[in-house]
Amino acid sequence: MSKTKTAVVTGGASGIGLEIAARLLGDGYRVAIIDRQPAALAQASRTLGDHGAACLAVEADVTDGEQVRAAFSAIRERAGTIDVLVNNAGISRDSRLVNMSEEDWDLVLDVNLKSQFLCCKESVPGMIAAGYGRIVNISSRAWLGGFGQANYSASKGGVVSLTRSLAIELAKDGITVNAIAPGIIDTPLLQSYSDETRAKLAKTVPARRVGSPADVAQAALFFASEQSSYITGQVLYVCGGRSLSSPSV
Ligand code: NAI
Repeated sequence: MSKTKTAVVTGGASGIGLEIAARLLGDGYRVAIIDRQPAALAQASRTLGDHGAACLAVEADVTDGEQVRAAFSAIRERAGTIDVLVNNAGISRDSRLVNMSEEDWDLVLDVNLKSQFLCCKESVPGMIAAGYGRIVNISSRAWLGGFGQANYSASKGGVVSLTRSLAIELAKDGITVNAIAPGIIDTPLLQSYSDETRAKLAKTVPARRVGSPADVAQAALFFASEQSSYITGQVLYVCGGRSLSSPSV
């Protein structure tokens, strides 16, 4: 890297976000993680501290415009212009449509999609001024559709559309905007399922294994790098082939 770059990772206290933050630190980035869980943030700071690089932990709910503005202002004050934004924070509240509450619809759309809009708004002006930026939005293979996932799938489809629109808008400013669509990834979310369910899920993946946070982080690092400058508006599946079809079991 030509200079130390600053990266922000939302939902960076756990799972995929934590792994992306660790890999960015390992590659010499200054990294700020934003998360709403103070205890998880403190634990993540200790974990990331082992990497020996500058790491900032900022508590904020990324669905709240005021909290997002305050968080980014604190980060800019301490770490300067944001070069890389990884919009990773996300949740699921699965249920069939007939049982899905309006609250669960709003919550999932707010956390998974609106947060990305809010964080882009805070990062992009500085990127435009610098003539450089990398935005990596975490979508999901489920944007293709999923049983009992109307809210989650719609939010992740929205992430793809947001990515494509911003890519068109920001390409002339040296800013790339890309999305990653992970399949089944072994994070605290998946670890809450029984061994039996996890084994069944793995069988639906052509690669016959669930992915690791490191599999996703590898893709994020690629989009975050200076070298990926001519790639924008793309969706990269990290799903062991699950976006293509499910093998018969
Ligand atoms: P996780 O639950 O381990 O981590 C998500 C983090 O986001 C948590 O630390 C949580 O506190 C934070 N977060 C949630 N709501 C927030 C809010 N309002 N404000 C600030 N922080 C908030 O989940 P995981 O599995 O690491 O997921 C990361 C991303 O990857 C999500 O966007 C998820 O939808 C996506 N994804 C995950 C897959 C999987 O199989 N684990 C598959 C496809 C996509």
